[in-house]
Amino acid sequence: FQPKPLAGSRVLITAGPTCEPIDPVRVITNRSSGKTGYALAQAAYEYGATVQLVSGPTALACPPGVERIPVQTAVQMRDAVMQRVDDADIFIAVAAVADWRVENQSSEKLKKKDGQPPALHFVQNPDILAEVAARPDAPWCVGFAAETTLDPEMAQEKRRRKGVPMLIGNLAQHVMDADHTTVELFDDEGMINLGSGEKLEIARRIVQEIAQRYVRPH
Ligand code: C5P
Repeated sequence: FQPKPLAGSRVLITAGPTCEPIDPVRVITNRSSGKTGYALAQAAYEYGATVQLVSGPTALACPPGVERIPVQTAVQMRDAVMQRVDDADIFIAVAAVADWRVENQSSEKLKKKDGQPPALHFVQNPDILAEVAARPDAPWCVGFAAETTLDPEMAQEKRRRKGVPMLIGNLAQHVMDADHTTVELFDDEGMINLGSGEKLEIARRIVQEIAQRYVRPH
């Protein structure tokens, strides 16, 4: 008998990049394969949770048993999350959300004009994780920090700024599209090195750590 530490709990996950249109044929996006988020969705399902995966565009198959909600933009991702957040016990934000979207999107394909590159105006996208964490009945929230240099103090500062009990840090240049990753866990107690390995193996470790800390309301 394998005990399932997340049996009966509902997990909402964001994964992948978001795609912000410039015009009907051009987008601004982030380099994210979605592999870490999809591995977490699979691991949470294996551990007994009901899993909803709000995913930006990726080339990945949806893990069996997981419900995928496909989105393109950060605003669509936010709306899809907000529609479901009241039914979630745990929220894991893995998506590489574009920080900005183009305010002056063109409904027509922009034309090349001699020496006249288009001027794009950016507006900030909503911070989905911070918005979820600030809700009165917020689910138990986990954030990710993919940085090019990972400084424990910066990670803890980000965790507190987002208002979340757990932040997982990884080094961006090592993880983009890779099947392996190295992660560190930050919480109120400090930092725990969760080691290196295949993304699914690391995802299982992360889910185990979440299950240990998440106290189900009765
Ligand atoms: O602030 P930064 O983008 O480094 O934070 C990363 C964490 O916040 C990740 O968990 C990411 O999914 C989440 N995030 C979000 N909405 C944004 C930006 C980041 O949910 N607009």
